[in-house]
Amino acid sequence: MNAPLTYILAIESSCDDTAVAVLQNDKILANVVATQHVHENWGGVVPELASRAHLQNIVPTVELALQQAKISKHQLNAIAYTKGPGLLGSLLVGGTFAKAFSLALSVPLIEVHHMQAHILAHFINNGQPVPRFPFLCLTVSGGHTQIVKVNSYLSLEIMGETNDDAAGEAFDKVAKILGLPYPGGPMVDKLAQTGNPDKFIFPEPKAAAYDFSFSGLKTSFLYLVNREMSKNSQFVEQNKVDLCASIQHAIVSILVKKVLLAADNGNIKDIALAGGVSANTLLRSTFQDLSNKGYNVFIPPFEYCTDNAAMIGITAYFKFLEHQFSDVSSPSLARFPLSEIN
Ligand code: KG4
Ligand code: ZN
Repeated sequence: MNAPLTYILAIESSCDDTAVAVLQNDKILANVVATQHVHENWGGVVPELASRAHLQNIVPTVELALQQAKISKHQLNAIAYTKGPGLLGSLLVGGTFAKAFSLALSVPLIEVHHMQAHILAHFINNGQPVPRFPFLCLTVSGGHTQIVKVNSYLSLEIMGETNDDAAGEAFDKVAKILGLPYPGGPMVDKLAQTGNPDKFIFPEPKAAAYDFSFSGLKTSFLYLVNREMSKNSQFVEQNKVDLCASIQHAIVSILVKKVLLAADNGNIKDIALAGGVSANTLLRSTFQDLSNKGYNVFIPPFEYCTDNAAMIGITAYFKFLEHQFSDVSSPSLARFPLSEIN
């Protein structure tokens, strides 16, 4: 007899996207993201505005996801949500809704670590090959930059991480210096496509072993822009695409160099990308090229790179199989190191 199918509704609300997914085992039936536009005029996410927008979005987004999945809420076997890390007010909206929904439906509640979810997005069943354990995952988002050794779905080991800014933060900060709107990463990526990556050279920041440091890079970028602008007020306008291409090249080179060092030292051939910055065109193509050098490379489909609830759902599915349920008294955590997952 076949095992019964498991239906999980997952909610992600750690930052400024209200996302809801419905899964049937490891397959996605619905993956809805309500993006908040209220932050665009503010040059960054405003936490108070984010939590208010989550409040407005959560019910219609859950309804839409159930509609798209073509299932009734009474078929759900569990409710999953992002416990952290993220903006506390935002996390609380998704977490409180998930807790109430699980109580109302009398189904288990599953809490999920946001960065573990970015990593396990690789196991969403879409017919593509998946990495074999143990593999290395470069997790690069707006708040994190880590090299993680993934021993099994639920056992992760941090090999290295950033000492200061995350890679996404570095993209966002240089974008801000150039006067580009938030979030800057995708804009830098777009402009870089027609720029010269070798026009401006930035010193490689020093960081031990598999660790990273991006704040010095941002400062060198700022100094360059200020110095050149004092001589020519049109400098940024005249060099925007080359500045984007050069700084993107510097960030991506550091990321790839460190992950390869960790892979070679650990004799690991399967390497994966995760997190919002894995949407970056140069990072994706540089990683893809490594498959010609003996590595097995895994890059999530675009829609599973930036924040989404499908990744929360797949992580919850593996926790469901292990009966790792949580209690309504479990708090949402703004700070939640990956090393503290249970
Ligand atoms: O994982 P994510 O969606 O949210 C967090 O958990 O932080 O990552 C968002 C980060 C932002 O810093 C954004 O600028 C960056 O990912 N990002 C990119 C690109 N798309 C998103 N950075 C560079 N190139 C991109 N195409
Ligand atoms: Zn994220």
